Amino acid sequence: MKKINLAAALLPVFFAAGCATGPSAEQQAAMAADARSTAGSLIKQLGGELKKSIEANGPVEAISVCKEKAPAIAASLSKSSGFAVKRVSPKNRNPNGVPDAWEAQAQDALEKRLAAGEKPETLDTWQVVKTSSGKEFRYAKALVTQQVCLTCHGTDIPDGIKAKLAAEYPQDKATGYGPGMVRGIVSIKRPL
Ligand code: HEC
Repeated sequence: MKKINLAAALLPVFFAAGCATGPSAEQQAAMAADARSTAGSLIKQLGGELKKSIEANGPVEAISVCKEKAPAIAASLSKSSGFAVKRVSPKNRNPNGVPDAWEAQAQDALEKRLAAGEKPETLDTWQVVKTSSGKEFRYAKALVTQQVCLTCHGTDIPDGIKAKLAAEYPQDKATGYGPGMVRGIVSIKRPL
């Protein structure tokens, strides 16, 4: 109920953002392509680090890859792309990963598209929105769970991992997932 009210409250903002003074359709499409490739790099780099670490030292040690490498990769991509890049989820593990209103409604919309049969790889969305400090380009890409994710985000997490997660993330909400669910989003934004 809360979500629906929120989305309704934001609608006029989104419509206002569509007016003629904003970036052209071509400029928006170019930014979307840039954001898509930046999100792709984050997923590829983090996936590579995760795989390497699990193979070398097992999943308990790989928790530190998620803890240290994920924010580091996001920060380095933010620097090289000029976007602000991060990962968020309504069921966040890192306390900094709480979605804002736009991110929450974007994830909701992507979940509906996944449920309607869309392929995980193409699940992204973008928009120019008006904020109190000006216009912003916003982009979200869904992170859909694969088998490997469930070791640390699933329903049957091995004890060693459970213990380390409990120690490092006492407010962890990011468990209980099955395969093919939207775990969170890569969120990208840039002021215009
Ligand atoms: C080895 C354990 C492990 C595996 C495997 C793993 N994660 Fe995570 N995940 C974590 C940890 C730890 C964090 C918190 C990272 C931080 O502190 O920024 C996290 C955070 C996240 C976040 C950021 C939002 C939040 O909850 O804080 C997303 C999104 C996410 N993981 C998705 C995935 C997806 C999708 C996969 C599979 C491709 C995956 N994870 C595999 C341990 C793991």
